[in-house]
Amino acid sequence: MKLIITIDGPAGSGKSSLAKRLADKYELFQIDSGAIYRTFTKLALDYSKSKILRGETLESSGFWNYLSKNSIKIDFKNRNQITQVNNLDVEKFLRTPQITANIKPVADHRKIRENVNKIIVEVAENYPLVADGRDMGSVVFPNADIKFYITASSRARAERRFAEMQQKFPDLTVDYVEEQIIIRDQQDTDRDFGRLVQPSDAIFIDTTTLSLEAALEVIEGNLLRNASDRVQNLINSKRV
Ligand code: CDP
Repeated sequence: MKLIITIDGPAGSGKSSLAKRLADKYELFQIDSGAIYRTFTKLALDYSKSKILRGETLESSGFWNYLSKNSIKIDFKNRNQITQVNNLDVEKFLRTPQITANIKPVADHRKIRENVNKIIVEVAENYPLVADGRDMGSVVFPNADIKFYITASSRARAERRFAEMQQKFPDLTVDYVEEQIIIRDQQDTDRDFGRLVQPSDAIFIDTTTLSLEAALEVIEGNLLRNASDRVQNLINSKRV
């Protein structure tokens, strides 16, 4: 296993943006595990040809047969993840309210979680990673070089998500985005496998009142003080 930094936390906590900044600065590769759950959800919606995904669909042999014919792979461009289905980049289809609204049965599904974890672990064998998600430190990489758990108030998280999505989805309101975030928090903390938890050995950061830059500084301070030697060496070698 190469070097692994895990960043877990709820929707809108800033984990993906922080992971990207770290990856860019220290020439690491970024894995966004949520994008892989979104890709499975997209395939399930495509297969079911319906707007609402039902749990039964994921149990049907037709769906698993369909999945086996559509290979999900991770590639990188400038060390950023490109999620591919049959070698085609699907990133631009993944962050829609429809996929977000239908992700629960997919993320709850044990066999799908095992498939996602397998994809990620294979990548980690070949690339030094910053991996972000819900269960990267708790389930997928229990022996990570260092683990972070990032959170913020639901309002602050909704405001960030709203700012990202406002242009593409002009009918959204902050209140609606916050409601959806609270529902997703509930779903993410309640599931039987791979639920969102703060690993006991993770460093906790609340970004409610922190800018991205300030949160990045807190993370970097911890990388220097609390991470494995190989992370500390990497950080020191890239510092100007
Ligand atoms: O950042 P945001 O929560 O909007 O989305 P994401 O990181 O793209 O993840 C989408 C959904 O996938 C989450 O709400 C989780 O339900 C699920 N997920 C998960 O179960 N486990 C992970 N490691 C990552 C995401």
